[in-house]
Amino acid sequence: MTMLTAEATTYAVRLESVTKTYGPVTALDGVTWPFPRGGFTAVMGPSGSGKSTFLHCASGLDRPTSGTVRIGETDIGRLSEAKRTRLRRERIGFVFQSFNLVPSMDVEQNITLPLQLGGTRADPAWLDEVVRRVGLGDRLGHRPSELSGGQQQRAALARALVTRPEVVFADEPTGALDPRTAREVLRLLRETVDETGQTVVLVTHDPAAAAWADSVLFLDRGRIVEELASPSAASVAARWESL
Ligand SMILES: Nc1ncnc2c1ncn2[C@@H]1O[C@H](COP(=O)(O)OP(=O)(O)O)[C@@H](O)[C@H]1O
Ligand SMILES: [Mg+2]
Repeated sequence: MTMLTAEATTYAVRLESVTKTYGPVTALDGVTWPFPRGGFTAVMGPSGSGKSTFLHCASGLDRPTSGTVRIGETDIGRLSEAKRTRLRRERIGFVFQSFNLVPSMDVEQNITLPLQLGGTRADPAWLDEVVRRVGLGDRLGHRPSELSGGQQQRAALARALVTRPEVVFADEPTGALDPRTAREVLRLLRETVDETGQTVVLVTHDPAAAAWADSVLFLDRGRIVEELASPSAASVAARWESL
């Protein structure tokens, strides 16, 4: 096995010297980070520290001003817009705080939308598995407006998982949920890592949410300033206080 192959199988996402500026604002300031395949990483930091920018650059939703981002072995900065869109659709799942479901579509249509857009059909066994995991089997014909916040976020998570992405990025997915519902969503993210070996990157400002991860990165002013392995809610909160 060549070195290149060994690295490609070890890391799901790698950022190297990634900088993102908006006019005079440096939102990301030379971030280098490898995300191990099959790992669950939480990203924390004060409001405005660059968490969303980090996630958008790492997932190909946005282009860095400089630096490289690799998904597996693919340098996404070298891809055309069309190929980057396709890579995002096929290899990446994204979950937003605000769910971003299509109001006019029912749950099943929302979940299978990435496949529709890609011109493929759901593998029925996998679709069943995803629907079973998020517990929405009896809600498939409902519109988002007929669901609770937790159910909507579980539908959004199913939509992110339906293509079996290598990496799931979630930007404060529990920010709009009550604590019990939030735990359900976090448990599902944890299962995604433990049962399917997918990679999860979760942005949160909640130490209890970060404690579900294998490792917590702390961002401050666009830089990674700390990593905390095997986090507990207490150790995350303590580190957070000391930043
Ligand atoms: N589209 C944008 N245009 C201009 N400035 C932006 C844009 N997106 C983010 N920023 C700025 O970049 C910095 C980091 O923002 P963001 O990544 O959203 O932080 P966080 O998610 O940690 O709150 C902030 O100063 C924010 O105002
Ligand atoms: Mg944000």
